[in-house]
Amino acid sequence: MEYPVYRIIQTETLAPTITRLTVEAPLVARKRKAGNFVIVRATPTGERIPLTIVDSDPEKGTIVLIVQAIGKTTHIITGLGAGDHFVDVVGPLGEPTPVSDFGTVVCIGGGVGTAVIYPIAKALKVAGNRVISIVGARTRDLVILEEEMAAVSDELVVTTDDGSHGQKGFVTDALQKIISEQGKPDAVYAIGPLPMMRAVSEVTRNPGIRTWVSLNPIMMDGTGMCGACRVTVGDELKFACVDGPEFDAHRVNFDELIARNRTYGGLEKEALEAWKKSTETSDCKHV
Ligand code: NAD
Ligand code: FES
Repeated sequence: MEYPVYRIIQTETLAPTITRLTVEAPLVARKRKAGNFVIVRATPTGERIPLTIVDSDPEKGTIVLIVQAIGKTTHIITGLGAGDHFVDVVGPLGEPTPVSDFGTVVCIGGGVGTAVIYPIAKALKVAGNRVISIVGARTRDLVILEEEMAAVSDELVVTTDDGSHGQKGFVTDALQKIISEQGKPDAVYAIGPLPMMRAVSEVTRNPGIRTWVSLNPIMMDGTGMCGACRVTVGDELKFACVDGPEFDAHRVNFDELIARNRTYGGLEKEALEAWKKSTETSDCKHV
């Protein structure tokens, strides 16, 4: 059997820190469904990074990933170019998104979370829903996938915190406006930073609108073995990698997840600073 080399075919800068990569991964491309993710390693001794599969082309055997440079490894990944390759790409992982014909669905992407909501909005549109999408970012430069989201939506609202593009305000302001002007949607999917997903769930809780969020806890193996990705949903302990990543927003313990995700913040900062220093004295970007 010939093993795939996970070659990067193309890269594109979408925003100052956000890169789209098209990667050869034929087996993954053939099997993936909306909501699935992969775990990639950029270097043989590097950490394992979970990334949502944004799109795929089963015929060409490629998948699309979108990465925001935040820590050491994501900086390494966004520094890769066409012709480079990942050491491994494991997937598709996670449960596919629950998609059916609900009626009217609001899909919300906050910041780089728009990369994760895009395949879901696309699948919901194909399933026959009326899709209203909200894409929010801090400022105009950070709005991503506006055209792609417009193509899979019946209506698209863009928001920026500073008003530099689209409506001024948070995605939750746009959601409240839609609910008051158009009535309750049949479902809401919201993906972005945890405070955003928590805020969306508070908007939809009292009107009783079913709402899904995609959780991004720390992950290691991605197969339900290590327990790193545990989250509390209602009174149950769940593993986001095998039970999720999507869950009923009204049952998620966001406070616990926000606190758990901060656990290694100091170490991540140290690793990034050490890597930046080492690259200043080396030509190699894959340290
Ligand atoms: P950001 O902080 O710039 O926020 C993006 C938008 O979300 C804002 O413009 C605003 O409209 C909305 N928002 C943010 N905080 C809000 C609040 N308290 N109330 C209402 N709306 C709010 O986004 P970013 O910097 O692109 O986000 C990066 C974060 O997203 C990282 O922490 C990353 O881990 C997380 N993320 C999560 C997922 C996921 O699957 N859940 C996927 C990718 C990234
Ligand atoms: Fe190990 Fe989910 S990442 S159990």
